[in-house]
Formats: sequence, structure tokens, C-alpha cells
Amino acid sequence: MADDLKKGLEGVLVAESDLSSIDGDAGRLIYRGYPIEALAAGASFEEVLYLLWYGHLPDEGELAAFTEAMAAERSVDPAILETVRSLADAGEEPMAALRTATSMLSATEPEGEADAEDLEASLRKGRRITAKIPTVLAAFERYRQGEEPLDPDPALGLAENFLYLFTGEQPDPVAAETFDQALILHADHGLNASTFTSMVIASTMADVYSAITGGIGALSGPLHGGANQDVMEVLIEIDESDLEPRNWVEQATEEGRRIPGFGHRVYNVKDPRAKILRERSAELAEEGDSKWYDITTTLEAYLTDEKGLPEKGIAPNVDFYSGSVYYQLGIPIDMYTPIFAMSRSGGWIAHVLEYQRDNRLIRPRARYTGPEEQAFVPLQER
Ligand code: COA
Repeated sequence: MADDLKKGLEGVLVAESDLSSIDGDAGRLIYRGYPIEALAAGASFEEVLYLLWYGHLPDEGELAAFTEAMAAERSVDPAILETVRSLADAGEEPMAALRTATSMLSATEPEGEADAEDLEASLRKGRRITAKIPTVLAAFERYRQGEEPLDPDPALGLAENFLYLFTGEQPDPVAAETFDQALILHADHGLNASTFTSMVIASTMADVYSAITGGIGALSGPLHGGANQDVMEVLIEIDESDLEPRNWVEQATEEGRRIPGFGHRVYNVKDPRAKILRERSAELAEEGDSKWYDITTTLEAYLTDEKGLPEKGIAPNVDFYSGSVYYQLGIPIDMYTPIFAMSRSGGWIAHVLEYQRDNRLIRPRARYTGPEEQAFVPLQER
């Protein structure tokens, strides 16, 4: 029956989850009941990881122990860094390099961990992956700049340490705070395509490394995590064109062009994460160049009404403002999606663990539309 077919699984419930909830009409996102605005304003990325993985916000002692344990896991085996170097030298895309390196991380499990299969072991593996992804990405960037990677600094939080490893300089507090917030905003978002991919892999009882590697692959596409990079490329295109931003977007929509960073499968109004990132973009614009903020707000004003409701059917999603925020932080454009993965690995792991606690193999079906009966003709007679 045609009604049974939900293309793209739109609106299909496949699991129960305590992790995050999206109200697409109200533009509301919560992680375990906490509004994203409160977490972005008051928590660190490590606190949010703890919340997602352990089910409650940590107290001071729990957070200190967790942060210390995460920081102790940051270093990456030299053999893996060598592979990262050769991928950078070969001009590989950073997202593909991250996918390869994440898969390799399983080869450097500590003694006795490789075969451990219980949920506690999966969480330890997940924690290690999340701690090491920033090191891998920063090393990739350093190699392609012709530099050697730096050693992680355990005294710095995850966001700040990443910026330090990436740029080779101690980040200023505004940059570190903005980046930490961006990581919080991207950490989880229901059963988006990459999270669902991780869950499908985990539902076969495959290991966490496979699930996260698969999540990275799913995130890389332009309809999902790749959009933040596309946004910045469009903003640069507008800046370099002869058209005013308003005329550009008018023309683009008339041509039926898809505007990256707009539209969402679940939100019918502006994504709450975009609201927060727009504020950060405004702050960065005050400190430096306001060009990017001005272009983004002009596009938004054209495509939505004054209440932020989508006038032309689409409103900004998280990627619309994350692109220009990262740009203003001096991060190269092709690193935006890998940074998304750095954050979302937290959500993937949380969903994998939650799903495996009450696992059922995910195995949907397709409505067969091919021929029913064909007479087989041997190769030589075809
Ligand atoms: N620019 C212009 N029009 C858009 C659009 C965009 N970014 N996103 C959706 N639309 C339009 C479609 O053309 C379609 O119009 P139609 O009904 O007249 O044909 C309608 O909105 C529905 O689009 P559809 O692609 O069916 O929605 P979806 O739920 O499958 O897609 C996205 C959701 C995210 C894939 C889609 O909005 C998109 O491609 N956005 C740009 C990429 C992006 O920002 N991705 C990051 C998401 S967090």
C-alpha cells in the first residue's frame, strides 16, 4: 500500500530516546529536558557530553574527574598520525581523513579493551574516540600547513585545547567560549541521518568504532553536515559577485536554487541553534569584520518575515550561522563539517549506548517495484 511507504522515513518513529527532543513548530530543542539556550549559556561541552552519556548533569567532582579522564585520552598513536600525514600530503578531504583515522583508532585500544563488548566498555571506547578526534583534526591541519602537530594540553578544556592544537596559539577567551558553545549546539539532534546511521550499525551489535565511522560518512553529505561549508562558499560567492546580497538571494530563489543553511526536515520555524549562533556572529562582527554578519542577516531577512517565520517556506538552520562564525574564528572552510563531527560524536555515542541497552536489529523493507518474473537467459545467449 502506498500509504505504508514513508520515503526518507519522514515522521516515522523507530525508537524511544531520553536524549534530545525537537519541537519543530515551536523551534525548541532540549537535551534531556534542558533547553539548548540554557546549556549553551551556562555549561561547557564536557558537561553536555556527561549529561548525554551519564543521564544527569555532573556535580563539580564528577565533572573534574570526567574532564581529567577525557583529557588523558587525547593523544593519538604515532602510527595513526603518520597515516593522517600521508592523507594530508595527498590532498585528501579532511572529512575523509577523519573517517579513515577514526576507523584506525580501534587498532590502538589499550590492553584488554579491544575484545570488551559490554556497554561500559563501549562508553570507554566512545570517550576515547571523542577525546582523540580533535587531535586528529588539528594534526591534519598542521600537516597540510607544513607544520608538526602539537601535544594536547590537559590543562585546557576540549574546545580550547582544539583551538590551541589547531592554530598553535592560546585562543583568546571569546574564541574559546564561542567554539565551546558551537560544540554544545551541535552535540545532539534526535535521529538525524548520521545518528540514525550510527544506530543502524550499532543495532547489528557492531562495535562503537564502526558506528562512529559510519556516522562520519553520513554527516559528510551536503544535505546534512556538509551544508555549513556550502553556506560559507555561498557567502563568499555573494561577496565576490556584483549583486547586492538581497538581489543575489532574490535571483537565486527565482532560479530555484537551494540556499544552503536553510530548510529542515523537522523545524518549520527558525532553528533555535541558529538564533544563538546569530548572536555570536554579531558579537564577532563587532570585534572584527561585520561583512559576513551583514550578508547572512540580509539573506535571512529576505527569506523570513520579521518574526523569523519562513516567508518562502524555509528558515535558517544551525549551519547557516555556524559557517560564518567559524570563518570569523579563522577556521578553514573545509574543517567546518569535521568540527561538526567532533561535536556530534558525543550524540552518536549516546544514541548507540541507549539503543544497545534494549537492542533490536534495524531492518526496514522496500516496496519491490521491479518485474515479478523474468526468464533467465544464459550469458552466451544474451
Ligand atoms: N533552499 C530553497 N528551497 C528549499 C530549501 C533550501 N535550502 N530547502 C527546502 N527547500 C524547498 C524545496 O525546494 C521544496 O520545495 P517544493 O515543495 O516547492 O519542491 C520544499 O522546500 C521541501 O524541500 P525538501 O527537500 O523536500 O525538504 P526535506 O525535508 O527533504 O529537506 C533539507 C530538508 C535540509 C535536506 C533541505 O531543506 C535542504 O536541502 N537544505 C539545504 C541544505 C542544508 O542546509 N542542510 C542542513 C540541514 S541541518
